[in-house]
Parts: sequence; C-alpha cells; structure tokens
Amino acid sequence: MTTASLPVSPPASLRGPFRLCLAILVMATVTIIKGAMTTSTNSGLAYPDYPLSAGQLMPESSYTTLSGFLEHFHRLAAASTGLMALGLALWLYYGRRGNRQVRRTAWIGGFLLLAQALFGGFGVLLKLPAVTSVTHATLAQLTLATFAWLSYQLSDRYRDTAPLTDVPPGAGRKLALFALVMLVMQTVVGALARHTNSSHALWTHVGNAFVVFVVATIATAFAVGRLAKAPGVASVARWIVGLMMLQIALGFVVLAVRDPAGKAAMTTDRLGTAAVISTHVVIGAALTVLMAVLWAHVHRATRREGRLA
Ligand code: HEM
Ligand code: HEM
Repeated sequence: MTTASLPVSPPASLRGPFRLCLAILVMATVTIIKGAMTTSTNSGLAYPDYPLSAGQLMPESSYTTLSGFLEHFHRLAAASTGLMALGLALWLYYGRRGNRQVRRTAWIGGFLLLAQALFGGFGVLLKLPAVTSVTHATLAQLTLATFAWLSYQLSDRYRDTAPLTDVPPGAGRKLALFALVMLVMQTVVGALARHTNSSHALWTHVGNAFVVFVVATIATAFAVGRLAKAPGVASVARWIVGLMMLQIALGFVVLAVRDPAGKAAMTTDRLGTAAVISTHVVIGAALTVLMAVLWAHVHRATRREGRLA
C-alpha cells in the first residue's frame, strides 16, 4: 500500500492507536505467512494438543524441527496478534479514542481473532477436518481486512476525505462490495481445493479467477472514473489490478508445482514449493485487504453529511 492511500500522520489523539493498528496488520500478515507455510508443508499436526504444544509452552522440537517451528511459531504469532488487538480495543474503549464505529470495529476484529484461535485449536484436536481448516483459512483473510478497515478509519485520509456530493453513492459502492464478495468467494473455493484436494473445487477456482478479475477491473475503473477527486482511489485501484494480474500468473505456477495428491503429500523437504504456494495465499490476503479499503474509501467519499458523518 502506498502513502497516497494510507497517510501516516493522524491527529495526536489517534496517532498511537493508528500505529498500533498498523503493527497488528503486520503481525497478522506474519501469522498468515506462517499458517500458509504450516499447511503447505503439512505440519498442522506437529503438535496434537492445544493450547500447549506437546504439553509445553516452548517445546524443544519447536526450534529443532521445521514442522514444529512452523506450527508452534504460528501459534505464538497468533497469540501476539490477539494480545495486541485486545490492547487496541481496550485503549480505544477506556481512552475514549475515536467514535463508536471505530471501537465497534476493534471489538469485531478481536472476536474474529478469538474465533481464529478456536477454529485453529479445535481443528488440531479434531485432526484437521476440512471444515475447520477451510473456515480458518477464510476467517484469516476477513480478520486482516477488518484491521485494514480499522486502520483506514483511524487514518488522516478518513477524516480528510471530503464528501463528493455530485457523485451518486449507489453504483460505485455496490460494485466495490460485489468485487469484495467475489474475492472472498475465490478464497473459500481456493481453500476447499487446498484442504479437500477436490478437482471440481480446483477448476472452479481457476475459472472464477477470470470472473473476479473482470468484476474487480470494472469496480476499480468505475471508482477511478467517478471519484477521481478523492485522493488515494487511483493508487489503491492500480495496486488491485496489478496484484491481481500477478496472482493469476502465480496461480498457474502453483498449479504446476503443487503435488497432485494435495497437502497430504507435502513435506518440509519441498520448501521452495511451499513458499510459492504460500505467496499465492498471502497475495490473496493482500487483495482482500485492498478491496476492503477501496470499498470503505468509496463509501466515505460518497457519504451524505448528516447521515454518515
Ligand atoms: C491470528 C490468528 C490466526 C490467523 C490469522 C491464522 C491464519 C492461518 C492461515 C492463513 C493458515 C493457512 C491456511 C491455508 O493456507 O489454507 C493457517 C493454518 C493453520 N493454523 Fe492458523 N491462524 C491463526 C491462529 C491459529 C491458532 C491459535 C492455531 C492453534 C492451533 C492455529 C492453527 C493452525 C493450523 C493447525 C493450521 C494448518 C491447517 C491445515 O493445514 O489444515 N492457527 N492459519
Ligand atoms: C483472482 C485471482 C486469485 C485469487 C485471489 C486466488 C486466491 C487463492 C487463495 C487465497 C488460495 C488459498 C486459500 C487458502 O487460504 O487455503 C488459493 C489456492 C489456490 N489457487 Fe488461487 N487465486 C487466484 C487465481 C488462481 C489461478 C488463476 C490459479 C491457477 C491457474 C490458482 C490456483 C490455485 C491453486 C492450485 C490453489 C491451491 C493450492 C494448494 O493446493 O495448496 N489460483 N488461491
């Protein structure tokens, strides 16, 4: 994301929470990278217990084996993200920072993280059935998008965006929301392909990529065309289209390098393959974040004073 889309100098009262929220975004992304590597190396059951790992807080195998390292440090990164999110929600609430919407978004983010821990933990205890793994993978992206939305609400850009009263709110908002929903669906189908190895899900995911691309291009072109006066729209739109082209190209590489037997056949010996697939997962998350920010920004720029101020 560029400084044009998320400026870094909010007023004093929100500067701290804004920075903490950016730190949460970074930590959540690290957690997602480790989670994606855990799945891509089939290390999810390195420890069969939860919340402890092999009955300990810091088992030796978490720094002497790769599968133990990935799974255990994924748990630790998740716990750090959760603690930071709790800190932010309490800071906003007891420090009376931001408005009600900001505080509500912070709690929603916190609850999503709690749900992540439950789906992750129960997934392990139940030996990773597809239903918990697919839900866990999808919620990860929704969680990240929620904290991106919160960062946007805490930023200067949010407060400085003047309402464009000559632009009707309808179509731009609906298109951006539709593109966001299509992207999330793309993740759900990708996660189904990943965790069930269903060829039906896999080819639906490949075909739907082109539908998502067309919808996202229309949504971004519309936003840029109609909201050119709202700063930041053009750069977010450029990032979305650029990353989506990269993601589709990378998708074909993933298709070529992944094991036809799916994640069950993956091991820590094929780290390069795991890294390629995990990059596809992380770019998917970045796209969800950018689309959520675009939607929020279009919403903000087309608000009507008095109703959504
Ligand atoms: C901040 C919270 C968390 C986030 C954002 C997160 C994110 C992720 C992501 C993105 C994946 C990869 C999914 C995929 O590539 O399909 C993953 C995998 C996994 N996560 Fe988490 N996770 C979180 C918390 C936890 C916790 C607390 C546990 C506790 C055990 C956990 C256990 C797992 C396991 C076992 C996998 C591998 C699943 C499989 O291969 O089926 N996660 N996580
Ligand atoms: C709009 C473009 C796309 C997006 C946003 C996207 C996103 C994703 C995401 C998020 C996942 C993992 C879901 C999870 O967390 O478990 C995934 C999996 C996958 N994607 Fe894509 N994808 C796109 C296009 C493509 C294309 C064009 C291809 C192939 C030509 C492709 C091939 C795959 C494959 C093979 C997997 C499963 C990997 C595995 O089995 O481990 N993707 N995709």
